[in-house]
Order: sequence, then C-alpha cells, then structure tokens
Amino acid sequence: MQQLFGIPISYFVLILEVIVLIVLVVGWIYGARRKDFNLHHKAVYFVALIHMLTVGIWMVPRALNRLTRMLANPIMNWYQIVHDIVGILAIGLGVLLVVIFLVRSGMPIKLLKQTRPLMFLTIGTWIIAFVLGVYWFLLAWVLI
Ligand code: HEM
Repeated sequence: MQQLFGIPISYFVLILEVIVLIVLVVGWIYGARRKDFNLHHKAVYFVALIHMLTVGIWMVPRALNRLTRMLANPIMNWYQIVHDIVGILAIGLGVLLVVIFLVRSGMPIKLLKQTRPLMFLTIGTWIIAFVLGVYWFLLAWVLI
C-alpha cells in the first residue's frame, strides 16, 4: 500500500514529520529554556510517539526495501545513506532521553542541566535527518 485516498503516503509522512519538528522546537524554546518541564516533557513524549510510528511503520520498511538498490550506487544515493544513519542516531538519542526523563522524573531542573548536551546533539542530528528527508522527498516527488 503506497497510496491513501489516491495520495502517496510520503506526503502524509512529510506533514507528520513537519508537525513533529515544530513540537520539538516548541518543547525546546517554550519548555526547556523557560523551565516549563511539564510542557517540555509532554512535547518530548509526543514527538517520540509519533516519530516512532512514522519511522517504524513507513520509513524502516521502505529503507529495507531499497537497501540493495541504495548500496549498489552509494555515491548517487549518499543522501539516503546519511539520512538513514543520522536518523537512527537521532532516534536512539531521543529514546534515551525519554527513558532518562521517565526514570528520573523527580529532579527536573538538575536533569535538564545534565542532559543539555545530549538534547542539543539529538536536536542537531534530528534536523540533519529531517533536511535530508525533505531533500529526498523533493527529489522523489517534486523535482522529477
Ligand atoms: C530523526 C529521524 C528522522 C527524520 C526526522 C526523518 C525524516 C524524514 C522525512 C521528512 C522524509 C520525507 C517524507 C517521505 O518521503 O516519506 C523521510 C523519508 C524517508 N526516511 Fe526518514 N527520517 C528519520 C529517520 C529515518 C530512519 C531511521 C530511516 C531508516 C533507517 C529512515 C528512512 C526513510 C526512508 C526510506 C524515506 C523515504 C520514504 C519514501 O519512500 O517515501 N528515516 N524521512
């Protein structure tokens, strides 16, 4: 199934990923920077949930499907390879942060300070994966 109501699923996935990125940035600016832990943690949980669905149900099966084709010409498909590797790293870091927030829920200020570098790394890798995903989308659906 690659279409829903005649529309390629990639379009829905792109919209979900844009929403996820907006919530991530809102959680960072209005949550972490203003010390609103409730907003920050809710944003992180929402992002992790929706993103695991788009990646688990759509992106990973699609990636596995094109693995042989992608590796047959790594130079031409560099953006797919970097997207997948950086994307795995970003998700790994995101899940790690969620687990830390859940396990050590009683010390929000200290925890935000301690996890700051990890959060910046997560948001940085996330944005790289997002930009390459959009580039890939444009190549596949718009610039052909
Ligand atoms: C933070 C992590 C990630 C972000 C922000 C992200 C974002 C995106 C976006 C915006 C697209 C374009 C929408 C689309 O064409 O469906 C996309 C496509 C894609 N992503 Fe990711 N992605 C991430 C992680 C991953 C991972 C871990 C994999 C697999 C190992 C992956 C595999 C793919 C594939 C195969 C496509 C093309 C899907 C298609 O054929 O339409 N992504 N990604």
